[in-house]
Amino acid sequence: MAARTTAIRPAYENERLDLQYEILKVLFKGRNFYAPLKDPRRILDIGTGTGKWAIEMGNQFPRAEVIGTDLSPIQPEWVPNNVKFVIDDANEEDWMLDPLDYIHTRVLLGCFEDFREIIAKSFRYLKPGGWMESQEYMPTVYCDDGTMGPDYPFAEWTQTHDKAAMTLRRPLRIANKLKRWYEQAGFVDVHEEVYKLPINSWPKDPQFKMLGRFNETNLLDGLQAFSLQPFQRGLGWTKDEIEVYLVHVRKALSDRNVHAYHKIYVVWGRKPEENELGVPSPPSQPLP
Ligand SMILES: C[S@@+](CC[C@H](N)C(=O)[O-])C[C@H]1O[C@@H](n2cnc3c(N)ncnc32)[C@H](O)[C@@H]1O
Repeated sequence: MAARTTAIRPAYENERLDLQYEILKVLFKGRNFYAPLKDPRRILDIGTGTGKWAIEMGNQFPRAEVIGTDLSPIQPEWVPNNVKFVIDDANEEDWMLDPLDYIHTRVLLGCFEDFREIIAKSFRYLKPGGWMESQEYMPTVYCDDGTMGPDYPFAEWTQTHDKAAMTLRRPLRIANKLKRWYEQAGFVDVHEEVYKLPINSWPKDPQFKMLGRFNETNLLDGLQAFSLQPFQRGLGWTKDEIEVYLVHVRKALSDRNVHAYHKIYVVWGRKPEENELGVPSPPSQPLP
């Protein structure tokens, strides 16, 4: 794998990634994965970030080797013996990895020009019978009770963010396409679960209220980092213009009268066994 030097992100962004990890863990009722794993021996986490998921998987599967890859060296040094972090660009043609039992991606929206290439490469690097799983934010803002007006500034921000990302050829709205892309890549037994994640503490239900409160912090902490580079490079905005614009967006995000939420998609699928699809399928028309 190619070693790369990249700017180290500010510590608060790492803390935000760790908070995001905890939010998803609660939303998923304590689960780190949905694929029906049975004693996996080689696990890959693409774009591992601070590596929290990879470390938890290393603890949960002590007989497995867990490899986390990322462009940025922001992972801790002290990790379980069976966990390894590698600085690597997932866009590289060759991942230089031995076959894997399970490949995981989480919150990689806006990281790749075409996520189908990551799915196709994962398919190639999996052992027959191995699983791939993606856990992804859908940035669209949804509301079921009419409390979100047509000019809600946070929804408008997601559209502007999307426009900037498309200009830079880093699409954000990949979550709702994952199931189709997995199937097109050749995965079988493809499943999709969709969760609602409130954007602030508007829900009455205590657990969703808490999740919303944490998600509001996550979004408020990330808003500047999410916006700066795409808005500057993709739309030509100045830093001052962005800061002024974000004042209204932050206010909207914290408005509990608007009952808005994001959707989180979890998709998992299995690479067929070698002989599984080799069996000729029955003719679709009855033979004469
Ligand atoms: C939003 S973070 C998510 C991190 C982690 N998966 C999580 O759920 O906390 C996206 C990560 O993908 C990494 N990334 C972006 N492009 C990448 C690439 N081409 N190859 C490897 N990692 C990449 C970024 O450096 C960043 O750490």
